[in-house]
Amino acid sequence: MNNLIKINKINKKFKLSNNENLLIFENLDLNIDKNSITSIIGPSGCGKSTLLNILGLLDSSYNGDYIFNNQNIKKMRNSHLSKIRNRNIGFIHQFFYLIPELSVLENIKLPALINNSNDPLITRDAIKLLETLEIDEKQNMKPNLLSGGEQQRVAIARSLINKPELILADEMTGNLDESTSDEIIEFFLNFIKKNNLTLVYVTHNSKYAEMADFQYELKNKTLLKK
Ligand SMILES: Nc1ncnc2c1ncn2[C@@H]1O[C@H](COP(=O)(O)OP(=O)(O)OP(=O)(O)O)[C@@H](O)[C@H]1O
Ligand SMILES: [Mg+2]
Repeated sequence: MNNLIKINKINKKFKLSNNENLLIFENLDLNIDKNSITSIIGPSGCGKSTLLNILGLLDSSYNGDYIFNNQNIKKMRNSHLSKIRNRNIGFIHQFFYLIPELSVLENIKLPALINNSNDPLITRDAIKLLETLEIDEKQNMKPNLLSGGEQQRVAIARSLINKPELILADEMTGNLDESTSDEIIEFFLNFIKKNNLTLVYVTHNSKYAEMADFQYELKNKTLLKK
């Protein structure tokens, strides 16, 4: 019952413009337990973002089975997939994708407003996250005025506002200098552990990969456990 993700023999290909197929994954298996931290490392172009898109229910054009929280994803309609994605999965990217016209606080509240537009608890939860991430004094500022590390904290808070079952992070420190990256990763992994969340993160950096409970390398179109 402790299993959150069970992926079985996934095959994934992209159709190229010359009508040839590019095979990305061949018989790829992955199990993720609840309350665990998993890292995925691998060279540029090996398919890390493609895999996170599949895990995050953004891409369903593949063969093989995907069971998320005991639900068969392959049998689900798109509308159901969007609901699960919005309520149960949080995303963090290298480029923070904050909305420049909205304040820090409004950016964080946005995914929650999509579910329930008039819940006064949303503001309370968003401010609590800002306090935990130590950026509450920036809550009324526009994100472009914040440093890269601060913007990533806002993106982290936004990924957590719906209390997702799963958090997916794609090279989350790829756009930050080394000391800010170290600080963000350390803080974030501690936060995930303390709050019993489940995280899968992709990185190029073996030092960060080694901080996970479970480490995988994406190689030869499949995942190898390290
Ligand atoms: N929509 C698409 N159509 C065709 N090819 C694609 C598509 N999306 C990705 N690819 C190809 O699939 C391969 C894997 O891409 P992906 O973005 O998953 O790599 P990655 O491991 O995340 O790389 P990076 O570390 O540079 O972010 C690449 O060769 C890429 O060109
Ligand atoms: Mg990528």
